[in-house]
Amino acid sequence: MKLLMKDRKRAVYAFGKIRDTVKYRLKFAHFPYIAKALLTERSRVSGGLNILDVGCGPGNMAAFCGDLKGSKWFGVDLWEHQLSQASEKQVYKDLFQVNLVAGLPFRDNSFDVVICNEVLMYLPNAAEVLREFHRVVRSQGKVFVYNPISWIPKTMARLKALWRRVYQEGESVALDGQSNWKSARRPCRIKYYSFREFIREVEASNFQVVAVTGFRLFRNRIRAMTRLENYCWYFRMIRFLTFRYPFLAADVLVVGSKKGFSSGNVTELRQRAAA
Ligand SMILES: C[S@@+](CC[C@H](N)C(=O)[O-])C[C@H]1O[C@@H](n2cnc3c(N)ncnc32)[C@H](O)[C@@H]1O
Repeated sequence: MKLLMKDRKRAVYAFGKIRDTVKYRLKFAHFPYIAKALLTERSRVSGGLNILDVGCGPGNMAAFCGDLKGSKWFGVDLWEHQLSQASEKQVYKDLFQVNLVAGLPFRDNSFDVVICNEVLMYLPNAAEVLREFHRVVRSQGKVFVYNPISWIPKTMARLKALWRRVYQEGESVALDGQSNWKSARRPCRIKYYSFREFIREVEASNFQVVAVTGFRLFRNRIRAMTRLENYCWYFRMIRFLTFRYPFLAADVLVVGSKKGFSSGNVTELRQRAAA
């Protein structure tokens, strides 16, 4: 009888654990945040939005956010393989093979929203690329830039440069679109920002920062930590901390509007995201 109770308890505990776990809960926590913010942007314009997904990769962001009532998604990436995966998602109106090091091949004021999810860190000319976002976004438009930040950016950059010298023969930036991002020699993270530096970089490109939200507390490749990130209680705890104190976070999302054309504010965006 005792044994049965023990087994039952174990089963209930195990079931609770399974129910409580969702893969990559924290890693993609910014996806629903951006999706809600896009719905807000969508409600502000009469037709659909023109959205540019910079460094779209396999198109996960667009696939997650979906069509948004008549909006058009455009994606750019350097790697053919990423672009063909993005095309399979059947969300993009058009995809372009572009090396961001050379800027964006679009006319001024072409997009209502520019999304740049985990891409700036690979670029040697991040400041120039941010100015390109300013050029192509419309006056009432928004940029959503999601990027890792570090408490010790200079040390991290030096360590990465050393690591690159030893293992990658100094190569850091991909200048050709080889076929497979995962297996090919690819750009590694070269740009490290502190929280303040990152915000200043966005502001220096003539954007007014309207919201800053932190998401993860650690970016790590330790498997046990990644598993921990999938638990609901851990997710809630970290989200509580990083939403209130984004400077503690390892990843931040900065929302900017063109200076002089600000619409929406931090509180409004936060409230919508938390709803
Ligand atoms: C970490 S992935 C992010 C993918 C995507 N934004 C997402 O949400 O899943 C970084 C992407 O940046 C792209 N990238 C890196 N350097 C680039 C460059 N110089 N020009 C264009 N795209 C670049 C890579 O091909 C890759 O798809």
